[in-house]
Amino acid sequence: MDKKEIDGNSKIEQLKQYRAKNAGGKMTTDAGLKISNDRWSLRAGKRGPRLLQDIHFYKKQTHLNRERIPEKVVHARGFGIHGVFKCTKSMKEYTKAGFLQEPGIETPVFVRFSNFIGNKGSKDTAIDVRGFATKFYTQEGNYDNLALQFPVFVLTDAMKFADFVHAAKQNPVTDVPQATIAHDNAWDYIANNQETAHFIMWLMSGRGRPRSWRMMEGYPINAFRFVNDEGKSTFVRFVWKPLLGVHSLDLEEANIIGGVDPDYHRNDLI
Ligand code: HEM
Repeated sequence: MDKKEIDGNSKIEQLKQYRAKNAGGKMTTDAGLKISNDRWSLRAGKRGPRLLQDIHFYKKQTHLNRERIPEKVVHARGFGIHGVFKCTKSMKEYTKAGFLQEPGIETPVFVRFSNFIGNKGSKDTAIDVRGFATKFYTQEGNYDNLALQFPVFVLTDAMKFADFVHAAKQNPVTDVPQATIAHDNAWDYIANNQETAHFIMWLMSGRGRPRSWRMMEGYPINAFRFVNDEGKSTFVRFVWKPLLGVHSLDLEEANIIGGVDPDYHRNDLI
Protein backbone atom coordinates (compact mmCIF):
# COMPACT_ATOMS: atom_id res chain seq x y z
CA MET A 1 0.00 0.00 0.00
CA ASP A 2 1.17 3.55 -0.76
CA LYS A 3 2.57 5.39 2.22
CA LYS A 4 1.93 9.14 2.36
CA GLU A 5 3.88 11.78 4.25
CA ILE A 6 1.56 13.01 6.98
CA ASP A 7 1.66 15.73 9.60
CA GLY A 8 -0.81 17.78 11.63
CA ASN A 9 -2.01 19.65 8.51
CA SER A 10 -2.57 16.60 6.29
CA LYS A 11 -6.29 16.43 6.99
CA ILE A 12 -6.76 20.11 6.14
CA GLU A 13 -4.77 19.67 2.90
CA GLN A 14 -6.91 16.66 1.98
CA LEU A 15 -10.11 18.62 2.55
CA LYS A 16 -8.95 21.53 0.33
CA GLN A 17 -9.98 19.78 -2.89
CA TYR A 18 -13.58 19.65 -1.67
CA ARG A 19 -13.79 23.33 -0.71
CA ALA A 20 -15.56 25.63 -3.17
CA LYS A 21 -16.09 29.39 -3.13
CA ASN A 22 -19.27 30.84 -4.53
CA ALA A 23 -18.95 34.44 -3.40
CA GLY A 24 -20.45 36.84 -5.95
CA GLY A 25 -22.65 34.10 -7.48
CA LYS A 26 -26.45 34.36 -7.68
CA MET A 27 -28.48 33.06 -4.75
CA THR A 28 -30.39 29.95 -5.79
CA THR A 29 -32.98 27.51 -4.45
CA ASP A 30 -32.05 23.90 -3.56
CA ALA A 31 -32.92 23.05 -7.17
CA GLY A 32 -30.66 25.75 -8.64
CA LEU A 33 -33.36 28.27 -9.56
CA LYS A 34 -32.16 31.88 -9.21
CA ILE A 35 -33.92 33.91 -6.51
CA SER A 36 -33.74 37.61 -5.83
CA ASN A 37 -33.98 37.53 -2.03
CA ASP A 38 -34.19 35.19 0.92
CA ARG A 39 -35.87 37.51 3.38
CA TRP A 40 -39.35 38.45 2.17
CA SER A 41 -42.20 36.14 1.31
CA LEU A 42 -44.76 36.91 -1.42
CA ARG A 43 -47.91 38.71 -0.32
CA ALA A 44 -51.16 39.65 -2.00
CA GLY A 45 -50.48 43.38 -2.19
CA LYS A 46 -48.39 45.44 0.24
CA ARG A 47 -50.32 44.50 3.40
CA GLY A 48 -52.13 41.42 2.14
CA PRO A 49 -51.87 37.82 3.35
CA ARG A 50 -48.91 35.63 2.49
CA LEU A 51 -49.32 33.50 -0.63
CA LEU A 52 -49.06 29.73 -0.71
CA GLN A 53 -47.60 29.84 -4.22
CA ASP A 54 -44.35 31.23 -2.72
CA ILE A 55 -42.54 27.94 -3.15
CA HIS A 56 -39.28 29.40 -1.91
CA PHE A 57 -40.83 30.33 1.44
CA TYR A 58 -42.57 26.93 1.55
CA LYS A 59 -39.24 25.10 0.93
CA LYS A 60 -37.37 27.20 3.48
CA GLN A 61 -39.93 26.54 6.20
CA THR A 62 -40.39 22.80 5.47
CA HIS A 63 -36.60 22.44 5.45
CA LEU A 64 -36.47 23.91 8.95
CA ASN A 65 -39.27 21.61 10.13
CA ARG A 66 -37.44 18.50 8.92
CA GLU A 67 -33.75 19.29 9.14
CA ARG A 68 -33.15 17.35 12.37
CA ILE A 69 -30.88 14.31 12.16
CA PRO A 70 -32.17 11.75 14.70
CA GLU A 71 -29.66 11.27 17.50
CA LYS A 72 -27.74 8.02 17.87
CA VAL A 73 -29.56 5.41 19.92
CA VAL A 74 -26.53 5.17 22.23
CA HIS A 75 -23.52 7.48 22.58
CA ALA A 76 -25.75 10.35 21.41
CA ARG A 77 -24.01 12.95 23.55
CA GLY A 78 -20.62 13.36 21.96
CA PHE A 79 -17.82 15.88 21.56
CA GLY A 80 -14.82 15.68 19.23
CA ILE A 81 -11.29 17.07 19.31
CA HIS A 82 -8.21 16.83 17.13
CA GLY A 83 -4.91 15.61 18.55
CA VAL A 84 -1.69 13.76 17.85
CA PHE A 85 -0.76 10.18 18.70
CA LYS A 86 2.95 9.72 19.33
CA CYS A 87 4.50 6.27 19.14
CA THR A 88 6.94 5.93 22.06
CA LYS A 89 8.03 2.31 21.58
CA SER A 90 8.46 0.26 18.40
CA MET A 91 5.79 -2.41 17.99
CA LYS A 92 7.59 -3.82 14.91
CA GLU A 93 7.92 -7.21 16.53
CA TYR A 94 4.11 -7.57 16.55
CA THR A 95 2.73 -5.41 13.73
CA LYS A 96 3.60 -4.00 10.35
CA ALA A 97 1.21 -1.04 10.85
CA GLY A 98 3.27 1.99 9.75
CA PHE A 99 2.25 4.29 12.59
CA LEU A 100 3.56 1.83 15.25
CA GLN A 101 6.95 1.10 13.68
CA GLU A 102 9.35 3.63 15.20
CA PRO A 103 9.39 5.73 18.37
CA GLY A 104 8.74 9.36 17.50
CA ILE A 105 6.29 8.78 14.62
CA GLU A 106 3.41 11.22 15.04
CA THR A 107 -0.05 10.47 13.68
CA PRO A 108 -2.90 13.03 13.61
CA VAL A 109 -6.02 11.74 15.35
CA PHE A 110 -9.61 12.84 15.81
CA VAL A 111 -11.29 11.66 19.02
CA ARG A 112 -15.04 11.71 19.78
CA PHE A 113 -15.86 11.33 23.48
CA SER A 114 -19.42 10.31 24.34
CA ASN A 115 -21.80 9.33 27.13
CA PHE A 116 -23.51 5.98 26.59
CA ILE A 117 -27.10 6.41 27.84
CA GLY A 118 -27.39 10.18 28.18
CA ASN A 119 -29.40 11.88 25.44
CA LYS A 120 -27.80 14.52 23.22
CA GLY A 121 -28.86 17.38 25.49
CA SER A 122 -28.18 15.68 28.83
CA LYS A 123 -25.42 16.64 31.29
CA ASP A 124 -21.77 15.63 31.01
CA THR A 125 -21.37 14.67 34.69
CA ALA A 126 -24.14 12.01 34.91
CA ILE A 127 -23.26 8.54 36.19
CA ASP A 128 -22.78 6.79 32.85
CA VAL A 129 -20.40 4.80 30.70
CA ARG A 130 -18.09 7.01 28.64
CA GLY A 131 -16.80 5.96 25.28
CA PHE A 132 -14.29 7.41 22.92
CA ALA A 133 -13.81 6.73 19.23
CA THR A 134 -10.33 7.52 17.90
CA LYS A 135 -9.65 7.91 14.19
CA PHE A 136 -5.93 7.69 13.34
CA TYR A 137 -5.03 9.35 10.00
CA THR A 138 -2.08 7.03 9.26
CA GLN A 139 0.23 6.89 6.23
CA GLU A 140 -1.64 3.78 5.13
CA GLY A 141 -5.18 5.10 5.53
CA ASN A 142 -7.61 5.61 8.39
CA TYR A 143 -7.54 3.34 11.43
CA ASP A 144 -10.44 3.43 13.91
CA ASN A 145 -10.33 2.38 17.55
CA LEU A 146 -13.19 2.36 20.10
CA ALA A 147 -12.86 2.34 23.86
CA LEU A 148 -14.98 2.52 27.01
CA GLN A 149 -13.71 3.76 30.38
CA PHE A 150 -14.26 0.28 31.94
CA PRO A 151 -12.38 -2.93 31.04
CA VAL A 152 -15.57 -5.05 31.03
CA PHE A 153 -18.82 -4.88 29.10
CA VAL A 154 -22.40 -5.23 30.34
CA LEU A 155 -23.21 -8.33 28.31
CA THR A 156 -21.51 -11.23 26.62
CA ASP A 157 -23.96 -11.83 23.78
CA ALA A 158 -24.78 -8.92 21.43
CA MET A 159 -28.33 -10.32 21.16
CA LYS A 160 -29.05 -8.72 24.55
CA PHE A 161 -27.78 -5.25 23.56
CA ALA A 162 -31.20 -4.01 22.40
CA ASP A 163 -32.81 -5.33 25.60
CA PHE A 164 -30.26 -3.61 27.82
CA VAL A 165 -30.57 -0.32 25.93
CA HIS A 166 -34.39 -0.44 26.09
CA ALA A 167 -34.19 -1.10 29.84
CA ALA A 168 -31.56 1.56 30.47
CA LYS A 169 -32.91 4.42 28.34
CA GLN A 170 -35.57 6.68 29.85
CA ASN A 171 -38.89 5.19 30.96
CA PRO A 172 -41.18 5.27 27.88
CA VAL A 173 -44.09 6.60 29.96
CA THR A 174 -42.36 9.43 31.84
CA ASP A 175 -39.32 10.02 29.56
CA VAL A 176 -37.24 10.14 32.79
CA PRO A 177 -34.31 9.92 33.53
CA GLN A 178 -32.60 11.64 30.59
CA ALA A 179 -28.99 11.08 31.48
CA THR A 180 -28.44 7.93 33.51
CA ILE A 181 -29.91 4.51 34.23
CA ALA A 182 -31.44 5.32 37.62
CA HIS A 183 -34.86 3.69 37.25
CA ASP A 184 -36.61 0.37 37.86
CA ASN A 185 -36.51 -0.89 34.25
CA ALA A 186 -32.72 -0.80 34.33
CA TRP A 187 -32.46 -2.45 37.76
CA ASP A 188 -34.90 -5.20 36.68
CA TYR A 189 -32.60 -5.97 33.77
CA ILE A 190 -29.52 -5.91 36.01
CA ALA A 191 -31.12 -8.17 38.64
CA ASN A 192 -32.18 -10.71 36.01
CA ASN A 193 -28.97 -10.76 33.97
CA GLN A 194 -26.22 -11.62 36.40
CA GLU A 195 -23.40 -11.19 33.89
CA THR A 196 -23.92 -7.43 34.34
CA ALA A 197 -22.56 -7.57 37.92
CA HIS A 198 -18.91 -6.77 37.18
CA PHE A 199 -19.80 -3.93 34.85
CA ILE A 200 -22.29 -2.45 37.33
CA MET A 201 -19.58 -2.45 40.04
CA TRP A 202 -17.45 -0.26 37.75
CA LEU A 203 -20.39 1.95 36.80
CA MET A 204 -21.40 2.57 40.43
CA SER A 205 -17.81 3.29 41.47
CA GLY A 206 -16.11 6.66 40.98
CA ARG A 207 -15.19 5.50 37.47
CA GLY A 208 -18.81 6.18 36.45
CA ARG A 209 -18.20 9.89 37.24
CA PRO A 210 -14.88 10.90 35.64
CA ARG A 211 -13.55 14.34 36.64
CA SER A 212 -12.41 15.03 33.10
CA TRP A 213 -12.09 13.14 29.82
CA ARG A 214 -8.34 13.74 30.31
CA MET A 215 -8.44 11.73 33.56
CA MET A 216 -10.05 8.54 32.31
CA GLU A 217 -8.64 5.20 31.23
CA GLY A 218 -9.86 3.66 27.99
CA TYR A 219 -10.38 -0.01 27.19
CA PRO A 220 -11.22 -1.28 23.69
CA ILE A 221 -12.36 -4.46 25.56
CA ASN A 222 -12.12 -6.84 22.58
CA ALA A 223 -8.88 -8.65 21.76
CA PHE A 224 -7.32 -7.66 18.42
CA ARG A 225 -4.88 -9.43 16.13
CA PHE A 226 -1.60 -7.77 15.16
CA VAL A 227 0.29 -9.19 12.16
CA ASN A 228 4.00 -8.45 11.69
CA ASP A 229 6.11 -8.26 8.51
CA GLU A 230 6.72 -12.02 8.58
CA GLY A 231 2.98 -12.75 8.76
CA LYS A 232 3.18 -13.87 12.39
CA SER A 233 0.06 -12.93 14.31
CA THR A 234 -0.31 -12.02 17.98
CA PHE A 235 -3.47 -11.35 19.98
CA VAL A 236 -3.29 -7.97 21.71
CA ARG A 237 -5.41 -5.82 23.97
CA PHE A 238 -5.11 -2.04 24.09
CA VAL A 239 -5.36 0.20 27.17
CA TRP A 240 -5.36 3.99 27.16
CA LYS A 241 -3.63 5.44 30.25
CA PRO A 242 -4.18 9.13 31.06
CA LEU A 243 -0.98 11.09 31.72
CA LEU A 244 -2.88 13.01 34.42
CA GLY A 245 -3.95 9.83 36.25
CA VAL A 246 -7.49 8.57 36.91
CA HIS A 247 -9.68 11.01 38.88
CA SER A 248 -13.38 11.00 39.63
CA LEU A 249 -16.01 13.46 40.84
CA ASP A 250 -17.75 12.89 44.18
CA LEU A 251 -21.45 12.21 43.64
CA GLU A 252 -22.36 15.55 45.24
CA GLU A 253 -19.78 17.40 43.13
CA ALA A 254 -21.07 15.72 39.97
CA ASN A 255 -24.66 16.70 40.81
CA ILE A 256 -23.80 20.33 41.56
CA ILE A 257 -21.48 20.78 38.58
CA GLY A 258 -24.02 19.11 36.28
CA GLY A 259 -26.55 21.77 37.29
CA VAL A 260 -24.20 24.72 37.02
CA ASP A 261 -22.42 23.65 33.84
CA PRO A 262 -24.00 20.70 32.00
CA ASP A 263 -21.18 21.01 29.41
CA TYR A 264 -18.47 20.66 32.07
CA HIS A 265 -16.41 18.00 30.29
CA ARG A 266 -16.50 19.65 26.90
CA ASN A 267 -15.71 23.08 28.37
CA ASP A 268 -12.64 21.46 29.93
CA LEU A 269 -11.30 20.79 26.42
CA ILE A 270 -12.44 23.93 24.57
C1 HEM B 1 -22.55 -5.97 22.08
C2 HEM B 1 -22.04 -5.23 21.40
C3 HEM B 1 -22.30 -3.77 21.02
C4 HEM B 1 -23.30 -3.25 20.29
C5 HEM B 1 -24.48 -4.00 19.68
C6 HEM B 1 -23.03 -1.83 20.17
C7 HEM B 1 -23.83 -0.92 19.49
C8 HEM B 1 -23.53 0.40 19.28
C9 HEM B 1 -24.35 1.33 18.54
C10 HEM B 1 -25.68 1.01 17.87
C11 HEM B 1 -23.71 2.52 18.54
C12 HEM B 1 -24.20 3.82 17.89
C13 HEM B 1 -23.63 3.91 16.50
C14 HEM B 1 -24.10 5.13 15.74
O1 HEM B 1 -25.29 5.47 15.77
O2 HEM B 1 -23.24 5.79 15.12
C15 HEM B 1 -22.48 2.36 19.27
C16 HEM B 1 -21.56 3.36 19.46
C17 HEM B 1 -20.39 3.19 20.18
N1 HEM B 1 -19.95 2.04 20.80
FE1 HEM B 1 -20.92 0.27 20.85
N2 HEM B 1 -21.88 -1.53 20.85
C18 HEM B 1 -21.39 -2.69 21.38
C19 HEM B 1 -20.24 -2.84 22.11
C20 HEM B 1 -19.30 -1.86 22.31
C21 HEM B 1 -18.01 -2.07 22.95
C22 HEM B 1 -17.48 -3.40 23.47
C23 HEM B 1 -17.39 -0.86 22.96
C24 HEM B 1 -16.02 -0.48 23.50
C25 HEM B 1 -14.97 -1.06 23.24
C26 HEM B 1 -18.27 0.12 22.32
C27 HEM B 1 -17.98 1.44 22.14
C28 HEM B 1 -18.76 2.31 21.42
C29 HEM B 1 -18.41 3.72 21.21
C30 HEM B 1 -17.16 4.43 21.73
C31 HEM B 1 -19.43 4.27 20.43
C32 HEM B 1 -19.53 5.70 19.95
C33 HEM B 1 -18.86 5.80 18.59
C34 HEM B 1 -18.68 7.21 18.09
O3 HEM B 1 -18.40 8.12 18.87
O4 HEM B 1 -18.77 7.42 16.87
N3 HEM B 1 -19.42 -0.54 21.96
N4 HEM B 1 -22.39 1.05 19.73
